[in-house]
Formats: sequence, structure tokens, C-alpha cells
Amino acid sequence: MNLKTMETQIKNEFELLKTEGDCSIFHAKYLGKSGEITALISNIRNLSNEERIESGRVLNILKRETESNLFKLQKEIKEREINEKLMNDKLVDITIPSLKAETGSLHPITRAQREIEQAFRDIGFIIESGPEIVSEYENFTAVNVPEDHPGRDMQDTFWLSNGQLLNTQTSSLQNHCLRKYGPEFRAFWTGRCYRNENLDARHEQAFFQVEGMMIGKDISIANLIYFNKQALQAVLNRTDIDVRLRPSYFPFTEPSFETDATCIFCDKENVRQETSTTEENKHHVGCGVCKGTGWVELGGCGMVHPNVLAQGGVDPNKYQGFAFCYGLTRLVMLKYNISDIRVFNSGNLEALGSIKGGAKNETIT
Ligand code: DAH
Repeated sequence: MNLKTMETQIKNEFELLKTEGDCSIFHAKYLGKSGEITALISNIRNLSNEERIESGRVLNILKRETESNLFKLQKEIKEREINEKLMNDKLVDITIPSLKAETGSLHPITRAQREIEQAFRDIGFIIESGPEIVSEYENFTAVNVPEDHPGRDMQDTFWLSNGQLLNTQTSSLQNHCLRKYGPEFRAFWTGRCYRNENLDARHEQAFFQVEGMMIGKDISIANLIYFNKQALQAVLNRTDIDVRLRPSYFPFTEPSFETDATCIFCDKENVRQETSTTEENKHHVGCGVCKGTGWVELGGCGMVHPNVLAQGGVDPNKYQGFAFCYGLTRLVMLKYNISDIRVFNSGNLEALGSIKGGAKNETIT
């Protein structure tokens, strides 16, 4: 019998196996000591060199597949027999529907945190984390906001009775990083921040920020733009994401900027080219998220202020670097089209579980 016919015969006979007894007979017929496959395999040595290689290969595959299919079938038959016995003995009724299993999903903020941390890890940033209760020194003084500095009024603080506070910004970890890794490092971290604000659809007392810092020799704004662009392109899975900076003010950086990124909600086709062809004059029409500007604001950044470096034990005459921060909660709101920030802390599982589609129709796993 040629090999092809044998394969078909094995397949057909396999289909007919019903009981353990059938399986044993089948095994003896093909795979046992005097089985047909076994015989063919031992006959290989009588073949010519060329035939030997090809038949050896085909027969080995046939043997392995037949064995594994048979093994699986025997297991199934055994399980079926056990279940039937349990049913017959009235010990268990396997036809009763099982309890519905509730499936869970990660909080959208957790998911975004993991994605963005991975993106920065991939470009060489150490992933750090810090406490939520910090000292006045860490949150303010160490980042160049001494007492009576007007910068303190920018953030309404929850003070604790022991003089510590709930960190108002992830910048409270800058000093720790400078002391731990300085004077040459890249670090990135996520933190929950607290501010004593009135609650409304856009303001929460607890929200998330992510922050990064790179210190070394000859670090410039160009590096800041490069790394932010790389990470954002990875997170958003798009190579057309650009980053631009607008002048701003923060006590911990000099110069300071606001970071904008290309709006991911604008359709490319939806860009209206004005008479002049410069980038500045391209207007994205009809996008409610960026209000037609083509840019969304992510947070603040800048070159780390010399006082901040000095507070962290790094010599500002020899080293410099950048720091940046994104409002993570805000980013997630943008990404999933969420209009009310209060949903994140609401504990409303139904509402949180439904934040799956959003702009990119993504499923949270
Ligand atoms: N900590 C600032 C805030 O919460 C944001 C910020 C601005 C962080 C500029 C930075 C920076 O690292 O360089 O408003």
C-alpha cells in the first residue's frame, strides 16, 4: 500500500473510533509492535538513500500525529465515561448551567499608565515611583518653590496635621531622582496628585500625572522634543505624531514650555490648506477636541532650573537636563472621549467598564 492511501485509511478509521476498546485495536493495528506504521518505519533501512530521507520524514510525521490524535481522543473518551458514570450514579448533573462568571477589566488609567511607562522604558528611561504623602521640601522647596513664592498659589494644597502634604504634582519626585541617580540619568514615573479644588466635570481633587527627567552633559530642548516624540509615537502607534512647545512659566524650569502634540482625532483629509502652504497655516477643520488647531495640550516642560539641580546635589555648571509632565487623566479623557473627569474616582463599575471604545474603539483587557 502506498503512503498516501495509508494516510487516508488511518484518517477514515480514526473517525470511527468510539470506545477505549476501539482505540486499543487501532493502536495495535498501526502503532503497536507489529503495527503497519511500525513495519514501514523498520523497512526504511532497506530503501535507497534518496527514498530513505523522504519516507523517513513523512513516516515520522504520520506516526507522531497519529499518536497525538489518539492520545487526545483516549483522554476525551475517559472524561466522557467518568461524567456519564457520575450522571448515572446521580452524583452530579453536568447539564445544569454554570454560574455566570463576571469578567473584570483594568481601570483605564492603569492601562494608560502601563502603556506610557513601557514606551519610556523602551527608550532607556528608568521607571520610578514615589509616595503620595511627601514633605513640604520635596513638593515645593526642592523644586525651586520656597515659602512665600507665588508659585505655591498655583496649586491648592491638602496639608496634613504633621506638616506633610498630599503631593500636588509628580515633580515632588524630582529631588529624589536627582539624589538617587544624578548627575546622569533618564527617569520616568506616574503619580496620583491631589489639589484642593472645587469638583466639576473638568476638575478633580485626585488625578494622575506622569513625569520624566533626563540629566547629563549637553542635554538640550532638542533631546526633550526627540524623546517625547518617540514615546508618544509608540503609545499612539502612529509615526505622524509631532510635538511642539509654547513658551510658559513654571518655577522648576527655565525656560519653560507647554507641550502640544498632534491631535489624533483630526482626520488627515479634514485638513484645510490655506492659501499659504506653511505648516502653521494648515487648519484642521471640524475637530471638537483640538478646536480646529490640530494640536492638543499635554502638560508642562522645560530645562531643569539650576536651583533644582543644586538642591539634588548636581552641579548646574557641569550638568543640565530637561523635565516634562503630562496630565495622564486628561490624556485618558481625550483618548476615550470622556467628558466628566469624576467618572474615574466614582467606583461606578458600569461606567468605567464601558470606557472601552472611545476614539480608537479599543478593548480594555
Ligand atoms: N508640576 C507641574 C504642574 O503640576 C507640571 C510640570 C511643568 C512638570 C513643567 C514639569 C515641568 O516637570 O518641567 O503643574
